[in-house]
Amino acid sequence: MQFDKIHNRIGTNSVKWDSLPSAYGVLPDEAIPMWIADMEFQAPEAVIKCISQLAEHGIYGYSREDDEYRQAICGWMERRHQWHIHPESLSSTHGTVNSIALLIQAFTNPGDGVVIFTPVYHAFSRIIRASGRQIIESPLVKNASGKYQMDFEATAEYLTGNEKMLLLCSPHNPGGRVWSAKELEEAALFAQRHNLLIVSDEIHHDLVYSGYTHRPFEKAVPSAKPYLVTLTSASKTFNIPSMHTGNVIIQDTKLRKQFDDVLQALAISPNSFGVAMTKAAYNEGEKWLGQLLIYLEKNKALFDSRINQIYGLSSMPLESTYLAWVDYRSLNLSLSDYKKKIEEKSKVIASHGEVFGTGGQGFMRFNIAMPLQMLDSALDRLQVAFSDSE
Ligand SMILES: Cc1ncc(COP(=O)(O)O)c(C=O)c1O
Repeated sequence: MQFDKIHNRIGTNSVKWDSLPSAYGVLPDEAIPMWIADMEFQAPEAVIKCISQLAEHGIYGYSREDDEYRQAICGWMERRHQWHIHPESLSSTHGTVNSIALLIQAFTNPGDGVVIFTPVYHAFSRIIRASGRQIIESPLVKNASGKYQMDFEATAEYLTGNEKMLLLCSPHNPGGRVWSAKELEEAALFAQRHNLLIVSDEIHHDLVYSGYTHRPFEKAVPSAKPYLVTLTSASKTFNIPSMHTGNVIIQDTKLRKQFDDVLQALAISPNSFGVAMTKAAYNEGEKWLGQLLIYLEKNKALFDSRINQIYGLSSMPLESTYLAWVDYRSLNLSLSDYKKKIEEKSKVIASHGEVFGTGGQGFMRFNIAMPLQMLDSALDRLQVAFSDSE
């Protein structure tokens, strides 16, 4: 089975592996890294082949974003998400985080507020802060099933009147919620009431577990089109983030013009490798994705069953993403205790909950997208480390 194969990534300039000494003080060959959100799996064969052909050609001249590229994206959204988008509503950027940064430039001014629901993917606050905008955090609350939900009444209380944008993570990282149509409708109403542009980051939309369906915001709430921007990319689904290529989907012509002006001003244009990889992945990667989802489902079951047997740990039931969110608050371990007692001993490296903003303290985020054998070893190590900490 292709996903069982263990690949050596040390020395490939991988952030997840080669940054371990500087980020965590741990040697890569002793660690099992479960922090950065990429997978320990090779991309689909078609992607590897197209990149090899491109590389072998040897001429890396200026290239363009062709119709086939746009058709590949539209075709994928139609087949996988029953979402019809017009090719002209698409713009290309240098990745999803880059899309967010560009949207902030296009639609807000320095000092304006951007609303986020925390804990959430840490680059959101990093980009907002670095752009000189205000972060308006609205902490997620837990519903009856122990999963996150947004609290719009509370969010309204945090507003100062200077907010221009609501940045939504859908599906949500971390915690893995797939927002329901009702929740998206509530978000749209909230944004409309407070004059906010909705930016829906849907990069995890293909990595959804059985029993759940991702709803593109635009499909769930068609009336939101005049104040909606959707972000996608083939990068997370097919494990190709180094291609640095993202899609921005804007149906409203006025908003699109405003965004395209910023792309022009900042000279953003696609790169040939990203265009080729996106086309190959969307046109020929569907079978691979089906197999990946079956594999991830098994990893999720193994992770949950073993982690929840460890005294004091509980994993939030994932509806999507390969990013498991584990609560260790009942152990009353400070972060420095966690580092000393668990991280230093086990060398299993997760993302610290604190970086995801308010509500993240006392949690760890574990990336479970790795060969099952490796995941099992990580769980063995964690079991020992936590039993020593009792
Ligand atoms: C919600 C979310 N958005 C964006 C990204 C990164 O996207 P990109 O690599 O396309 O910039 C991640 C990566 O983990 C993510 O979780």
